[in-house]
Order: sequence, then structure tokens, then C-alpha cells
Amino acid sequence: MIDLRSDTRHASHAGHEEGDGPRRRWGTTFTGRIPRSPPGGEGGRVCLGKEAGLFVPTGSMGNEVAVAVHTRPGDEVILEADCHIMNYELGTMAAFAGAMPCPVRGDRGFPTAGQVEVAIRPPIYYCSRSTLLCLENTQQHAGGGIYPRDRFRAVVDLARRRGLKVHLDGARIFNASVASGVPAAELAEGADSVMFCLSKGLGAPVGSMLVGTRAFIEEAVAMRKRMGGGMRQVGILAAAGLFALEMMVERLAEDHANARVLADRLAEIPGIEIDPATVETNIVIFRSARVPAGSLAERLKAAGVLCLAISADRVADGHPPRRQPRTGPQSRRRGPPDRRLRRSREEKRFLTPFERLR
Ligand SMILES: Cc1ncc(COP(=O)(O)O)c(C=O)c1O
Repeated sequence: MIDLRSDTRHASHAGHEEGDGPRRRWGTTFTGRIPRSPPGGEGGRVCLGKEAGLFVPTGSMGNEVAVAVHTRPGDEVILEADCHIMNYELGTMAAFAGAMPCPVRGDRGFPTAGQVEVAIRPPIYYCSRSTLLCLENTQQHAGGGIYPRDRFRAVVDLARRRGLKVHLDGARIFNASVASGVPAAELAEGADSVMFCLSKGLGAPVGSMLVGTRAFIEEAVAMRKRMGGGMRQVGILAAAGLFALEMMVERLAEDHANARVLADRLAEIPGIEIDPATVETNIVIFRSARVPAGSLAERLKAAGVLCLAISADRVADGHPPRRQPRTGPQSRRRGPPDRRLRRSREEKRFLTPFERLR
């Protein structure tokens, strides 16, 4: 079987289990918090040039800890409609932080400063406060696209001018860095906090990092604990993460090259729609004009290739399937289907609430 469903599906490298060198250097005191960013090398990668960092069990927890620390209940969080925080984190910002998402649509998942500006609430007492902007680089739903740097800088500048904090979901920031040749710390410039994953592509069995100012991390430690993420004896996981950062980052280029070969070959197949130029890193998304994505994924599985149907007509490696609509009594209560949205049963399986409004 060839498994192309996610860059988290990997056998861990022997070095991860040993994780010996880094572990000795960092000691077992790596119980989740790095007191301050050591200069250069390891530290440069561990904290992405920020003052401090925190080991968290998952990328989702890293994102949600950041949202909870940056906001107060009732605040609004501006983010791209297709981003991970919006679609795949179970509305945690509402559940834990009491914050509301304000989704905007950006070209290929990358909002411009203008698009963000119109979403910022005016400072009127009856409006919720826009306090946080969340960005994603690379953008999973843009097929691992890299945030255009000028656009990113402009958006961050705007947020600063308007008093918003910026959190960067950099689950795959090293993919962006390796593909663009720009150090990850530079890609993270201007962000108040960044989450990046050690277990995606880099091969660590588990774990992500949340980095930011010392003051931010102090609060994040408490929030992580509140969410149940305060771990004991986590040095062994941290060692695997350090190994990943030391040894695996450059090898992401191999994934990118493989993804490009896959995209080029797919583009040669009649009926498959894909622009290989849009495959910048390790995610390949394509459409089939003729076969619904779900059936295509089934047929590929029968042929020994695992991939994901991410919408009615799009197939990908590296993507979770979209939310399923409700079934059972709740859905029946909704009444007859809206005629404007008459779609095939296959299509309906994949519609997000946001898409249903379009
Ligand atoms: C862009 C992005 N952010 C965050 C996450 C969450 O990471 P985790 O699965 O470790 O919670 C993912 C996972 O796929 C992701 O793709």
C-alpha cells in the first residue's frame, strides 16, 4: 500500500527513538518549557527567533492555547475561511476561549491586508472587539501553498497598526522555508506567536511547539495545563522533536520533489485537473472532471494507493476529509432542502457550513 493521506503518516526514524544527542544536551528538564531561546542553531529553529517556546502535544492545542491567551471572551478572531483553526479544531475557540471566529476569504487561502481591514470591527461599544488575526503558512487547503511574503508583511503591518495580535499557524512552516529558501524565523517575523508541528513531514512521533514572547509563554503554560496538556517526563518526546529539527528539515525538499513528480504525472492524465505550478510544497490536490472524488479514492485504494477525498471533486494527499453533515433527527428538523443548494448526495457529504451559504 502507498499511503499518501497525510504527512503525519510515517514510521518514526530510529534516531527519533534514540534522540540521544539532543536529549543529552537539553537534559530531561525539557518538561515542556524552554526558558529562553538559545542563539542560532537548534535554538533558532526551536523558538523561530522568538523569546521562548512551549512543547505542546498537538498542533491544535498549540493554536487554541494561543487563541485563548491572546483573546478575552466575546472577542473576534479574524482568520481565513478554509484554515485549520476554522474547520478542524471543533470550534475550540468558542468552547475554551469564548471567542468568535470572523472568517474572510483569501485568494488560495491567503487574505490581503484589504480583506482583513474590512473585517476589523469599528471600536463601538456594542461591537465585539477584533483582537486577533490568525494566519496559516503553508496553507493546507491551498495545497500547501506558501503565503506570498509581501502580502504576509502587509497583513501583519495592518494588524499591528490596528492593535490586533497575530498568531501564525505554521504547522508546516519548515516546508515553506525549505521551498522558498527563506529561514523559518524570517517567515515568522511580525507574528506574536507561532505554532509549528514536529510530527508533520519532520517525522517526530508526536508534538508541536508554540513560541512567542516570554510573557506570552508564561500564560500559555497555564492555559496548556488548563486544557489538559501539562505533561510529565516529556523529555523523550522533546528529544525526538529536537532530532526532527536537527536532522529532518532539509529532507523536506525530498517530499517536495516527490509531490512535484506526482503533480506532473497527474497533469498528463486526461480528465484530471491540476496545475503542477501550484504544488509548492508537499500537498497535491487534484480534481477529476468525471469521477466523484469519493469513488476515485475508493478505486485508488483498491489499486493500493491511499489518498483523501476532500470535497466532492477534489482528491489530495495530506488532507483530512471535510466535516460531515448532521444525520438523524437534527437534520430532519431543518425542513426541506434549499433549492438553491441542490447538489448531488456525494457533494453534500463534503460541504462545510460556510460553503452551504455560497
Ligand atoms: C495547518 C494545520 N494546522 C494545525 C494542525 C493541527 O495539528 P494536530 O493534528 O497535531 O492537532 C494541522 C493538522 O493537520 C494542520 O494541517
